[in-house]
Amino acid sequence: MSAANSLVDQLDDLVSLERGEIDRRIFSDEEIFDLEMKYIFGRAWLFLCHETQIPKRGDFFEAPMGRDNVLVVRQKDGSIRAFLNTCSHRGNAVCRAEEGNVKNFMCTYHGWTFGLDGELVGVPGKSIFYKDKLDLSKHPLRKVAQLETYRGFVFATFDETAPSLEDFLGPTGRLSLDLLAERGDMEVIPGIQKFVVNTNWKFTVDNVFDYYHPQITHMSAFAVGAIPSPPDEFVEGGALTDEGNRLEVPFLPTDLHNIVMISEYGHAISGPEQAVLEKDYGSQEPFAWRYTPGTQEKLGRYGSRVAGHPHIFPTTWLTAGGQLSLRIPRSPGVTEIWWYSFRDRNASGEQQAAELSGHIHYFGPAGLLEQEDGENWAQSTLQTRGGVSREVPQLLKMGLQTSKIIKEDGLAVIEAPINEHAQLWTYHSWREWLRNPTWEELRARTTPGDYI
Ligand code: FES
Ligand SMILES: [Fe+2]
Repeated sequence: MSAANSLVDQLDDLVSLERGEIDRRIFSDEEIFDLEMKYIFGRAWLFLCHETQIPKRGDFFEAPMGRDNVLVVRQKDGSIRAFLNTCSHRGNAVCRAEEGNVKNFMCTYHGWTFGLDGELVGVPGKSIFYKDKLDLSKHPLRKVAQLETYRGFVFATFDETAPSLEDFLGPTGRLSLDLLAERGDMEVIPGIQKFVVNTNWKFTVDNVFDYYHPQITHMSAFAVGAIPSPPDEFVEGGALTDEGNRLEVPFLPTDLHNIVMISEYGHAISGPEQAVLEKDYGSQEPFAWRYTPGTQEKLGRYGSRVAGHPHIFPTTWLTAGGQLSLRIPRSPGVTEIWWYSFRDRNASGEQQAAELSGHIHYFGPAGLLEQEDGENWAQSTLQTRGGVSREVPQLLKMGLQTSKIIKEDGLAVIEAPINEHAQLWTYHSWREWLRNPTWEELRARTTPGDYI
């Protein structure tokens, strides 16, 4: 039995939906990381870029797909193609820039040149060194298996048997993208913020759905007014001083209402409902786009009530503020984070500047929230490597098996106070992907039941 097989046999021990417990080895084990690269990132539809990043012919953007890098290129006929950034000769990268505009890609090693469509069009000394025996048509850049767009969001997969992008996204994934696309005539602001955190990628995904941590982790952000403070309420469980007084720590109101959507292939949306957000901000004004004609209808009955956080499995997060983030696994303990900031082309200059300033100050390398989160992720990751501490299970027991899943409009919805349903769903789906099932099996095993 190969090592990979024995690991697959242990998957049920590594993630237990029944106990709400996760084995910490999944955050540090090299073999598991290799399986993730192969069975998740080698097969899933992955977000590459937005069409507005490559508007003109010859525009390109380099995006990650697992361990590979692909060049997403606008073609002469306006279509989009993506191929590996590796020369078919001896493997050198054919493009060193992260984005730009080119007429063709010339490799810096021996000068092989590829057209915008990835075809090999030039080989130095073709007749002298190769005696004209080299068939150029046999050595193009390797293309992705499928590429599709949904509302301007470009995705690709290496698996030619993968279902269509629309099927893969399903109602929950499409709603996640709609929540950004419906904000206006959206385009990506030039420049992607990129930085590295010493964490396993799954901690970054887990955190997207975690509304248990903000009042503690982000206390400084609340203190300086960077984000609106929750109501000044306390619930049981708050620590007491030696004198029996409550410590000056805000605790979460027990009735903070969350809407959770979980779906096929592991996508999920979880977080406060829109009404709660508007109450916190004291105004509907920042959310005016939601109430424009057609948008409520487009978002649907549940979609118009949900505020955040949408996550497309495995690593695409869309924020309530109009950003998209990729959490890119580089090794079990290293994750690169990319932030794409969007703006409405029709918004005023001041409005655009104010939103961008918000984006920069919340997330990304200068983002207060992400600095605070990143510290926790790095510490949690570090402890998964300890010889003994790695044996202590991770706990995800909040709300376990207590909330009925309502199925409506193709969605699977839970309404409950703060909970860990979406995190558990992500780990459950992660486990099913790692079994390397057929697409039909994967879909069946990640179809929500009545409870989680
Ligand atoms: S490796 Fe690219 S031309 Fe030789
Ligand atoms: Fe956070």
